[in-house]
Amino acid sequence: MLSGRRVVLGVSGGVAAYKSAYLARRLLEAGAEVRVVMTPAAQRFIGAQTFASLTGSHPLTDLFEDPSVSPHTELARWAELVIVAPATAATIARLAHGIADNALAATLLATRAPVVLAPAMHTEMWEHPATRRNISLIEADGHRIIGPFSGELAGGDVGIGRVAEPEEIVEFAKTVLHRPLEGLTVLVTAGGTREALDPVRYLGNRSSGKMGHAIAAAAAQRGAHVELVTTSSLPAPPGANVHRVESAQEMLEAVEKIHPDIAVFAAAVADFRPAQAAQDKLSRSDGPPTLVLEPTPDILASVVARGDDIFVVGFAAETGGVERAIEKAKRKGVDLMVYNDVTAPGSGFGTDTNQVTLIEPDGTVDRWPQLSKAEVASRLMEIVANRLGR
Ligand SMILES: Cc1cc2nc3c(=O)[nH]c(=O)nc-3n(C[C@H](O)[C@H](O)[C@H](O)COP(=O)(O)O)c2cc1C
Repeated sequence: MLSGRRVVLGVSGGVAAYKSAYLARRLLEAGAEVRVVMTPAAQRFIGAQTFASLTGSHPLTDLFEDPSVSPHTELARWAELVIVAPATAATIARLAHGIADNALAATLLATRAPVVLAPAMHTEMWEHPATRRNISLIEADGHRIIGPFSGELAGGDVGIGRVAEPEEIVEFAKTVLHRPLEGLTVLVTAGGTREALDPVRYLGNRSSGKMGHAIAAAAAQRGAHVELVTTSSLPAPPGANVHRVESAQEMLEAVEKIHPDIAVFAAAVADFRPAQAAQDKLSRSDGPPTLVLEPTPDILASVVARGDDIFVVGFAAETGGVERAIEKAKRKGVDLMVYNDVTAPGSGFGTDTNQVTLIEPDGTVDRWPQLSKAEVASRLMEIVANRLGR
């Protein structure tokens, strides 16, 4: 997976910088071409000469002293993958805020290659609200984080903050370069639909769109062209083409224009909508209205009915046992159904975790443990890729 791949190793200024020499070694052993870029602080912990000797080329250490015209953009374009290890709190903050004031920070901003960061710092720094915010920002930008883990830290302290080991980073790097969905279009629907009662009010549901957005991100990370049709105001996942919609009808119309190889229906679509939305805002003085409902279009069924060779994944958010979802999987003609009990703790709408059960069309079930929605999305996309022989 790493053989012949061009990897830039960014080293920032923490004690764990000594481990980056081992990491460079492991990457070279895995067949990668490695170039190194260091911050000024990193050079206080480990010499540039060490990396020069290991990799056969001098690390980039200064934007203005380097003989090439634009060293950071040149390195950024050369990279197929950038790994920052260790990633200090300061380097993470620079990336989160787009500050390009040293060779590593400028390379990180200039590259379009995937970026993996292996943070290392004292527990207090890692747990500081500023670092938490910065990590959320860089994750939302699509950068990948490995660790930190618990263990012995500099100065004899023990706690969370230990950098991932070189071997762990190499394995992680392989998964980042693994793009099994390259060349495929993945359609994802996300969020709860809103069905107008009047120009102001709607019938809706509690779906946040987090699961669907995580699936879109996981598919894009695996190389897919992603079309995300969403009612959620969550930020666009990196790499996904986003269509913002409100109602089941709008979602259907957006979906009809997309011709995917894989379709994942994670949206919570209303089953019924008001038969007639009031033209004007309903007024209390007119007394309680009588609501007449009509069925909404079945978006999943419309895609299955196309008869195209589309791998279809349905989601069944239920409040009872798995039986209804099994019945639904058989009836709907999906290739996979993902069931979750939305009333279970740590599962379903609005949470960052989910406990799902995968249901095959023949009714076979596979119950997964409670995982982050990002992890559920990753596992799901790996399974779909696998089923498509990728
Ligand atoms: C002995 C020592 C160890 C340090 N270790 C860390 C560390 O592990 N993580 C971290 O974020 N900062 C650490 N720092 C602080 C950074 O070196 C400092 O914030 C520096 O500005 C980081 O710059 P850079 O991100 O540009 O390399 C350490 C400083 C010293 C003096």
